Amino acid sequence: MREAVAMKIEPLHDDFGARVRGVDLTGPLPLEQVEALHAAIDEHSILLFPEQDMSDEAQLSLTQALGDLEENHVAFGRTGEIVHIGTVGNVIDAHTKRDESDPHTQALKGNNLWHSDSSFRLVPSYVSILHAYETPAEGGETEFVSQRAAYERLSIAQRTKIDDLHVLHDYVFSRTKTAPVDDKHAASLPPIEQKLVRTNPRNGRRNYYVGSHARSILGWSGIDSRQLIDELNDLATQPEHRWSQAWQPGDTVFWDNRCILHRGMGYDANRFRRYMRQTRVRGTGPTLEE
Ligand code: OGA
Ligand code: MN
Repeated sequence: MREAVAMKIEPLHDDFGARVRGVDLTGPLPLEQVEALHAAIDEHSILLFPEQDMSDEAQLSLTQALGDLEENHVAFGRTGEIVHIGTVGNVIDAHTKRDESDPHTQALKGNNLWHSDSSFRLVPSYVSILHAYETPAEGGETEFVSQRAAYERLSIAQRTKIDDLHVLHDYVFSRTKTAPVDDKHAASLPPIEQKLVRTNPRNGRRNYYVGSHARSILGWSGIDSRQLIDELNDLATQPEHRWSQAWQPGDTVFWDNRCILHRGMGYDANRFRRYMRQTRVRGTGPTLEE
């Protein structure tokens, strides 16, 4: 049996993130290695592994080693088909790509609003894994911020005010801002109630959980509810709190959707090709049961 290798870790930002060397994610992972990855996710929230010789098969095995594969809600909502890996970007094959006017390119622009993947699902995502195969010569970065660091910057009074609140997360609310959502897909994703403040079960660290899918605070008036969500999003996403991932082919990035927000920075799909593959590990249960 292979032994777990020691991971060489360098910080990415004062608040969160680690560049990890010394691990080949594409081979079989011993149990101690998987445990070390979970521990690093709990500690750093984002892990960047450069120079991974990834394939879809290896990415699916890696994702399964970390937990349950989450099915893609777009394919499932539209057609009932279950797929566990999806394309981010505009590449169809070696010779063909989608341009700016393509509806799929437009739909992916919803990713350019700050969000946590699947926060609108009853059991939201634990971790997303995104691997870059082809990257545009200009643009196409992904930005990240930590809602754990943001929560920890709040005063005790601000924390007390929000600690027990619940929030509706709604995909149709957020994504119709950038592109139409298919009727069947919309019907498959009713608004879901989530805790506003979540606690990491391993280290007890708390974070708030908002982003663009957060629609309203349960039991609050429309205006107060919108103001609080906007304020929390603004506090978390100030420029100095961001870390920007400038993708290189071969980069594999894990982010902890329980506490991280991310957004795409966009690129010109008419000029450039961008090909990335994404898988997600399902969370352990509804946030209301945490
Ligand atoms: C995602 C996502 C942003 C980007 O893959 O979940 O939001 O930069 N991606 O493509
Ligand atoms: Mn996303």
